[in-house]
Amino acid sequence: MIEIQNLDKTYKGNVQALRDVNLTIGTNMFGLLGANGAGKTTLMRIIAGLLRPTHGHIQVFGHDLSTAKGKQAAKAFLGYLPQELGLYPALTAREFLDYVAILKAITNREMRRHQIESALEKVRLTDVADRRLKTYSGGMRRRVGIAQALLGDPKLLIVDEPTAGLDPEERVRLRNLLSDMAQTRTIILSTHIVEDISQSCNDLAVLDEGRVLFRGSPKDLITQARGQVWHITVANGERPDNGLLTVSTLQLQDSVQYRVLGQPNSRYNPIPTEPSLEDGYLWLMHSARV
Ligand SMILES: Nc1ncnc2c1ncn2[C@@H]1O[C@H](COP(=O)(O)OP(=O)(O)OP(=O)(O)O)[C@@H](O)[C@H]1O
Ligand SMILES: [Mg+2]
Repeated sequence: MIEIQNLDKTYKGNVQALRDVNLTIGTNMFGLLGANGAGKTTLMRIIAGLLRPTHGHIQVFGHDLSTAKGKQAAKAFLGYLPQELGLYPALTAREFLDYVAILKAITNREMRRHQIESALEKVRLTDVADRRLKTYSGGMRRRVGIAQALLGDPKLLIVDEPTAGLDPEERVRLRNLLSDMAQTRTIILSTHIVEDISQSCNDLAVLDEGRVLFRGSPKDLITQARGQVWHITVANGERPDNGLLTVSTLQLQDSVQYRVLGQPNSRYNPIPTEPSLEDGYLWLMHSARV
């Protein structure tokens, strides 16, 4: 359980990255959704004890991160995959994991070997573990990143945009892998890809300019756009009202079909449409801006 209270973070140069964030994060998979610069990485680094907040309190499994003792205790429960993890290209996956395990102070050789093999198996890299990392694809590298975060068998796993830059199949594979692992531990996952959340998180927060704009289930987020989603068809060359938010555009033979959010003029004969999670997210962001 992670408890975050009145958290502010202001970087040098007066960049306010987090503003009065209050969150309770329970078990399984928690999604952190937000645009570039919303504050996701900042929040994750603070939870991981790598960055100090300007104000506010955090407790990780009952340990207060503002004290050296609390931070030390919380670290023992923690695995972290940073947004940009530097791998050593000349090392094999097995060598790299050994190196990280030593850094994590897993000094017993037999224990280290056991944990490395178990992590390799979990991310399905056992067969290629003696290949140099420079020969790995983007998806495989990401899985090495997850494997290194799993060393020490953490109760809390923080993964910052693990699916960025992956092809659809690798993305699905990684998502499933994380879902499996979330059965026995807490995972906090950040993404700006709405689908990542809809498939695997039962609880999420949307961050916007450092603020928590929304907190709830994917279903609750979808509900935000209920009654606001429409299909309208306009003749070629015509455009829908300015006040509408266009989600997608489909060119037909001599007209254009739009999926829009808002309240279209009845002259378009708008067809009401079931909202998706993306609609909910877009409507939430749109409503925050007006
Ligand atoms: N070390 C730093 N010094 C100054 N400003 C920073 C620093 N790190 C981040 N910021 C700023 O803080 C804000 C939040 O950044 P953060 O990296 O937490 O966002 P993010 O949601 O992770 O974005 P992205 O989706 O691009 O990874 C941004 O305005 C960013 O420019
Ligand atoms: Mg980030």
